[in-house]
Amino acid sequence: MANARKRDFFSLILLIVLLSDSYTTTAVEFELLKLVLQWPNSYCSLSKRPCRRKPLPSDFTIHGLWPDNRSWPLYNCQFDFDIPEVGDQKFRQKLDVIWPDLRLKRKRDPEQGFWITEWKRHGSCALPDISFIDYFTTATRLNKKFNIRDILGRGKLYPGDSYDLQQVESTLTKFIKKVTVVKCPNGFLTEVIVCFDPSGTSIIDCPGPYPCTYVTVNFPKAVKR
Ligand SMILES: *[C@@H]1O[C@H](CO)[C@@H](O)[C@H](O)[C@H]1NC(C)=O
Repeated sequence: MANARKRDFFSLILLIVLLSDSYTTTAVEFELLKLVLQWPNSYCSLSKRPCRRKPLPSDFTIHGLWPDNRSWPLYNCQFDFDIPEVGDQKFRQKLDVIWPDLRLKRKRDPEQGFWITEWKRHGSCALPDISFIDYFTTATRLNKKFNIRDILGRGKLYPGDSYDLQQVESTLTKFIKKVTVVKCPNGFLTEVIVCFDPSGTSIIDCPGPYPCTYVTVNFPKAVKR
């Protein structure tokens, strides 16, 4: 009798251990990662604060990495630690090339404000799966997988002209093999969003909305005001 009870007790403990383990390992709080890339000449054509970065990068640069859910947008999630530095200075210099704050001049020790704002607004929603510093290394890794300007070029879409939105979208889909999101405020091809699974292993179709409603979009070679 005592033994049977002991066995029940241990079975119960085992069950609790198993359950809590499955909770911790399956606790992904977001469904997808959106890598948001911007075309500097478009961004700076529209930005209210002029871009002081000279020269402007001639490739798409990172705007942010946004963990998200399909049913509702995730932003400004909770966190309970003091925000550390974004890597060391060497890492920040590298990050400043692919993820620059275009409004600011280039500096030997780049300002961290843009990255930290993006992390607070979006990156914090990937905790605890993606730590503060992993957020930036993950964005760097995902950004390396393709080059939007090259992809558009393969479809004969070069900066300095206007193109049918449909042509832009089908070129992106053809080479990325998944649906992306194009953003085109005021008719400028400003952003392309590529979506990944939560672990950042595979590219997936981006869910809507697909906000660009212009028939043709301007893909400028320089800042137009
Ligand atoms: C996002 O969706 C997942 C289910 O896929 C859910 O577990 C999680 O709670 C959602 N996150 C938020 C913050 O609502």
